[in-house]
Amino acid sequence: MIVYKTDLNGITKDQLKGFFVGWKDPLTPERHLEILQNSYIFVLAVDNEKNNVVGFVNALSDKLQFAFIPMLEVLPNFQNKGIGSKLMEIILSNLEHIDCVDLTCDPELQPFYERFKLLRSRGMVIRRYMER
Ligand SMILES: CC(C)(COP(=O)(O)OP(=O)(O)OC[C@H]1O[C@@H](n2cnc3c(N)ncnc32)[C@H](O)[C@@H]1OP(=O)(O)O)[C@@H](O)C(=O)NCCC(=O)NCCS
Repeated sequence: MIVYKTDLNGITKDQLKGFFVGWKDPLTPERHLEILQNSYIFVLAVDNEKNNVVGFVNALSDKLQFAFIPMLEVLPNFQNKGIGSKLMEIILSNLEHIDCVDLTCDPELQPFYERFKLLRSRGMVIRRYMER
């Protein structure tokens, strides 16, 4: 069964394996854990039979007006089971007091995010790894 958590109780780096699929330099589990700790809020999907994290989403925020959702990922074997949608629903319900919630995504994922009432937008970014 998948359970959803917004804390790191019982979660160590050993339960954070297999993420960042396709990244040139995948984040280490140590760095992943630190990012979650430093986030305003995060939601974990945990396979409670194996106690492994199989999906996560996190948000950064000034706690008043703006929040940004930098990452949402579900492990390949667990995709298309509604886990990504549930993670989005939970994090957005925790951000209802924030007027502006932004994220960037590839165009093909825009229909997925529209399901949660996100609007299409344009943006500018710095990606230093593209310069390395
Ligand atoms: C995007 C992602 C988080 C969705 O998680 P999930 O648990 O598979 O999502 P759900 O099961 O709730 O919903 C699946 C729906 O999303 C759509 N979807 C998932 N990835 C997609 C993609 N790359 N392009 C277009 N649609 C996509 C599926 O087609 C599916 O649509 P359907 O319900 O009409 O069949 C997951 O595919 C993932 O981790 N992808 C790799 C990382 C990534 O791209 N993250 C988003 C960064 S902006």
